[in-house]
Amino acid sequence: MSAPRKCPVGVLISGRGSNLQALIDAGFAESFPARIALVISNIEDAYGLVRARAAGIPTRVITHKGKTREAFDAELDAALREAEVEIVCLAGFMRILSDGFTKTWEGKLLNIHPSLLPAFKGTQVHERVIAAGVKQSGASVHFVVPELDAGPVISQSVVPVLMTDTAETLAARVLEAEHRLYPTAVRLVCEGRARLEHGEAVFTS
Ligand code: GAR
Repeated sequence: MSAPRKCPVGVLISGRGSNLQALIDAGFAESFPARIALVISNIEDAYGLVRARAAGIPTRVITHKGKTREAFDAELDAALREAEVEIVCLAGFMRILSDGFTKTWEGKLLNIHPSLLPAFKGTQVHERVIAAGVKQSGASVHFVVPELDAGPVISQSVVPVLMTDTAETLAARVLEAEHRLYPTAVRLVCEGRARLEHGEAVFTS
């Protein structure tokens, strides 16, 4: 039997790239329905680029500096199309994308966020989770829509918040959950089992 077709994925990063690594590792399994066709970083020395190169994945550095948001996004779009990417994963990509870009890639653009959305959107998530005194946190993978961190959720993972937690210890626990969650969500989307329809996430088995 021939191996199943792997959906070409583009991953956008700005830093460490541990979620990128989780997707790279998942891709080693023949049954995983995605392969990373391109990694783009807006930061030249992002460690995620080292991870991608070590795995033999093509990389591009596209800086946002001195460009309008639209011009930067147009460069991202052109690079993704050139690599024939079908799904785009934001993995610690710390730039807000223009409405035009999110609409162009609607239903094909995923983000991972270190909270149980819609709670704790934005930055400084773990500090705010601890300050709020909630007992559970986690991670979410969602379809990206123009409004920040507001897109329909594809998959979530819950972790406990302990009395002794600092933002760092909680971040580490959530990150471990992220590494399991992102490949699961990418699988659902690449297999067509999670789709964005009329602004809602729709699931089929
Ligand atoms: C992850 O915790 C991810 O959820 C978060 O940045 C970290 C990137 O880590 N993303 C956001 O906060 C986006 N709003 P990584 O570079 O090791 O994957």
